[in-house]
Amino acid sequence: MGVLTTERLVVREWELDDADAALEIYGVDKVTRWLTPAMGQIADTDAMRLLLQAWIEDQPNMLPPRGRWAIQRRDTDEVIGGLGIRLLPPYEEDLELSWQLRPEAWGHGYAAEAGAALISWAFTQEIDELFAVARPSNTRAIGTAKRLGMTWVGETDKYYNLRLQVFRIRPSDLIDG
Ligand SMILES: CC(C)(COP(=O)(O)OP(=O)(O)OC[C@H]1O[C@@H](n2cnc3c(N)ncnc32)[C@H](O)[C@@H]1OP(=O)(O)O)[C@@H](O)C(=O)NCCC(=O)NCCS
Repeated sequence: MGVLTTERLVVREWELDDADAALEIYGVDKVTRWLTPAMGQIADTDAMRLLLQAWIEDQPNMLPPRGRWAIQRRDTDEVIGGLGIRLLPPYEEDLELSWQLRPEAWGHGYAAEAGAALISWAFTQEIDELFAVARPSNTRAIGTAKRLGMTWVGETDKYYNLRLQVFRIRPSDLIDG
């Protein structure tokens, strides 16, 4: 995919040196409590480096637009979040877009800004829809989905045996078409 640049952010591949910054996202209960059960909460920098290493090794083998990326601020170079696109288990038919920010970065529109750039790129990769799922009480994630122009399509427990709100976006939903 290369690097995506927005007004305030860069979306790029993960690097091992991101471990400390990534731990501020994936090692924090305020974030991980909302993620899928498979993700869990990362205990320390060593564990974070191992996970990043696995993500970095996986990346070239993932069929685009699947992948995992870091969100970096352009003004401070700080890594403040992550984005992912993957097939939702167990049926692996629906592509899920997911986003995570370190709590200090919430409330600035960063997830929506980075997510919009990733969606635009994803729709150049011969796919016709992307989904997002969120627990009904995850009002921030639901707000981001709506801000991204995603449409609520219902509630399901088919993905993780969790009751989840489902949102979808198609190329025709993009503001610039
Ligand atoms: C979900 C998550 C990324 C949302 O973070 P967020 O900062 O609220 O997301 P957005 O990028 O949509 O930003 C919207 C907020 O920024 C504010 N904002 C400030 N400047 C803005 C700008 N220039 N543009 C847009 N919004 C802006 C909005 O008013 C809104 O704040 P509010 O909800 O307090 O009104 C974050 O809460 C998180 O990491 N949660 C844990 C992980 C998670 O749940 N992931 C989703 C599961 S798929």
